[in-house]
Amino acid sequence: SDIRPLVAGNWKMNGTRSSLDQIRAIAHGVSGPLSRKLDALICPPATLLYVATTLTVDTRLMIGAQDCHQKARTGAHTGDISAEMIRDCFATHVIVGHSERRQEYGESNHRVLLKARAAYDQGLTAIICIGETREERAEGRTMEVLHRQLRGSLPDDATAANTIIAYEPVWAIGTGQTPRADEVAKVHARIRADLVARFGEGGETIRLLYGGSVNPGNAKELLGIPHVNGALIGGASLKAADFLSIYHAY
Ligand code: G3H
Repeated sequence: SDIRPLVAGNWKMNGTRSSLDQIRAIAHGVSGPLSRKLDALICPPATLLYVATTLTVDTRLMIGAQDCHQKARTGAHTGDISAEMIRDCFATHVIVGHSERRQEYGESNHRVLLKARAAYDQGLTAIICIGETREERAEGRTMEVLHRQLRGSLPDDATAANTIIAYEPVWAIGTGQTPRADEVAKVHARIRADLVARFGEGGETIRLLYGGSVNPGNAKELLGIPHVNGALIGGASLKAADFLSIYHAY
C-alpha cells in the first residue's frame, strides 16, 4: 500500500534521565536513508517529554505522549496532563485508550473519544488503541469487541492526518505471545473495512499499527502482513538496539 509506515515505541512507566541516551541513539539511528519511506516515534513518560523533543530537534525521530486528559487545556485535574501541555512540549502525538488505561483506570470508549478530540483540538495526532482480551477472543467475540471500540472511541472527524489506530490484542501485550500472521491479517483487513464503511475514502489511509510483543525476531513477519502499517512497541522500544533492529526490519 502507499501508506507511509510508522514504527512507534511506547515506553510506558519506564525511563529516567539516564534513558535519554537511548532517545539520542534512536534519533541517530532513524535519520538515515530509510527515513525517506518510514516514520519513527517514541512516547516517553511525561517527565521526559520536553527534554526528549529538545534532544531530537533536527532529527527524524518524533516524540509523543502516552495519554492526555479529555479536557484539552487547563483545569483542576490533579495528576493529569492536557493536550495543550503536550503540544507546548513540542510533542506531536498522543496515545489514547491504551488497554492499560482502559483496565487500570476504567477508561470507557467514550472517554477515549473525548481524549482523541482533545488531541485534535491541539493539533496532535491521536494514536487510538483497541484490542480484545484473552477471554473475549476465546468466546469468539474479537471482531464484535473491536467494532464496538472503533465505533465508540473514534470521533466522527477522524482522518489519516489526526488519527492512527493501534490494534493490540490485550493477551499479546508483554506476554511474548502474538497472534498468527493470518489472524493479524484477517483482523487488520476487517478493521480497514470497518474504517472505510464509516469514513469512506478517508478510512483507506488511516494508519493501522499492530502492537503486542513485537520484537526484533518477529518484526519482519508482522510488519510484512497486509494492512499492517507499522508497529506500536512496548518492551522492545526501551533499548535503542532493539527498537532500531525492528525499524530496520522494513
Ligand atoms: O503499547 C505497546 C504495547 O502495549 C505492546 O507492549 O511490546 O511490551 O508487548 P509490548
